[in-house]
Amino acid sequence: MRGKFITFEGGDGTGKSTQARMLARRLEAVGVRVQLTREPGGSPGAEIIRHVLLSGAAKPLGPDAEAMLFAAARDDHVRRTIRPALEIGRWVICDRFTDSTRVYQGILGQVDQRLIRGLERITIGDLMPDLTFILDVPVEVGMARAKGRRGRAAADRFEAEGLEFHRKLREAYLAAAAEEPQRCVVVDASAPKETVGRQIWNIVGARLDPVTTPVSGHGRRHEIGV
Ligand code: TYD
Repeated sequence: MRGKFITFEGGDGTGKSTQARMLARRLEAVGVRVQLTREPGGSPGAEIIRHVLLSGAAKPLGPDAEAMLFAAARDDHVRRTIRPALEIGRWVICDRFTDSTRVYQGILGQVDQRLIRGLERITIGDLMPDLTFILDVPVEVGMARAKGRRGRAAADRFEAEGLEFHRKLREAYLAAAAEEPQRCVVVDASAPKETVGRQIWNIVGARLDPVTTPVSGHGRRHEIGV
């Protein structure tokens, strides 16, 4: 039986990676085999492209080229990591996926919708997530958290954008969630992480029922690049 596909989305400092890890642990505890992964990256080829994108090396090429590079990374990730895992019954939890391209490149980067949709069709086809969590925090809180986490390290290509960018980003995510309520759930991520984690677990239970879903034995979690 095909596994379920869950993605986490949101701006910087919303706690996506922490929540993705917490959900993976909870699923494993009830016997679900999990593949935890992330974008950009999640396969050896995509990790190379990640470096090009997040270092800012591709920024001078413009938002269209960046969108194509994110798509190239996703194509490799879907073919080498996500589809094979789902096919053998693992549940895939991915930190960012196609909604990031829709929002960062499509809305904030103003890349033509035809290009965004075309790239999406080529890279993922009918592989939309079964469930997407959009973690939402006030912009100032998210930016302060991201800064705290980074310490003295330099901000990456997208973290370096200003307050206005992050405000638009939040609005764009909320609009995207409103368009697809059957797939997307907005979670207020300003609460303590345990509270947010419990809420996410309850939603997964209600929507995807991991406890009664048949799983083929216990397995170790497989992590790539996380
Ligand atoms: P990452 O270090 O993974 O940070 P985060 O914790 O915010 O997920 O950086 C990924 C960055 O790449 C993030 O700023 C969003 C951006 N991004 C896009 O612009 N488009 C995409 O399709 C994806 C997957 C990510």
